[in-house]
Amino acid sequence: MIPSRFQGRLRLPMIAAPMFLVSNPDLVVASCKAGIVGTLPSLNQRTAAGFDDWLKEIRERLGDDAVPYGVQFPVHKTNTRLAEDLATTIRHKVPLLITSLGITREVTDAIHAYGGLVFHDAISVRHARKALEANVDGIIAVCGGAGGHAGTYNPFAFLGELKPLMGPNRTLLVGGCIGDGYSMAGAIAAGADMVYVGTRMLATKESGAMDANKRLVVESDITDVVYSDQVDGVGGNWLKSTIPPPTAALGKDDVDTSSMLSDLKRWRDIWSAGQGVGSIKDTPTTAELIARMEGEFVAATHRLRGVESARAPAEATA
Ligand SMILES: Cc1cc2nc3c(=O)[nH]c(=O)nc-3n(C[C@H](O)[C@H](O)[C@H](O)COP(=O)(O)O)c2cc1C
Repeated sequence: MIPSRFQGRLRLPMIAAPMFLVSNPDLVVASCKAGIVGTLPSLNQRTAAGFDDWLKEIRERLGDDAVPYGVQFPVHKTNTRLAEDLATTIRHKVPLLITSLGITREVTDAIHAYGGLVFHDAISVRHARKALEANVDGIIAVCGGAGGHAGTYNPFAFLGELKPLMGPNRTLLVGGCIGDGYSMAGAIAAGADMVYVGTRMLATKESGAMDANKRLVVESDITDVVYSDQVDGVGGNWLKSTIPPPTAALGKDDVDTSSMLSDLKRWRDIWSAGQGVGSIKDTPTTAELIARMEGEFVAATHRLRGVESARAPAEATA
């Protein structure tokens, strides 16, 4: 289900997914003002103090009654900022924490204590089960074709395995190649409560991606995206033309692959995007994009109703 704290407050059941070096306060604020949940990775700020400043800025710009926003960080021993960023998140009572790589009961308890929610991003059923044991409020099924560190599972198959684990009060989200209201409606028809959208949000006016990166996303199609663990040691989707030739390829043994901080240079030079790039044709404002997606979402529900009303009753086909 959509969390009770989000119900009646969102224009679309959608989270603008956190993106390293891309999500910034402008994108979070524009997303929330457009009626979806805006998020950013804490590590997009180089220091814990900078992260604190960003949260102050977001709260000031959004005001108290705004659509909820969220932050993301890995809950893993190699995240050297974990304790500080968690403390900052709690101090600001951030409505949603998105965790990756790991999650503990201590973290969920600390966020729940002030009324916040925790969603965990998972690429396997095993990771999802562990997160549910740690009492998270939602699971994000990051599927094949997603931008960033992606899973490999087909969304229908992954949702099918996760749905029975969720129970009545938890939220199931799906991410990977959702870039318009039609795919959003499809994901929801297939069992997701909300969708998680990255690459489409990268090509918006407010995103912090470089202009050349936005242009390349707009110009690319599915053949330009390659899934590889050669960039930072973890399987992810990348825009092929930005990957250096093999001689310059980056070994995975010499970096701490769990910490985005150590990956700063390679993520700045090698651009990640999901397989959904082919349907991204422009760089609208976030408000324009969400208004368009809303129209598509409504049209998709009409399509389903059209199919429904054209069905023959069972007796007629027997
Ligand atoms: C450029 C880029 C950077 C990303 N950085 C992060 C990140 O720092 N943390 C994270 O949890 N996910 C990150 N992701 C993954 C997204 O949060 C999300 O799972 C994904 O974008 C959804 O698939 P889509 O891009 O096909 O919409 C990134 C994705 C992209 C495209």
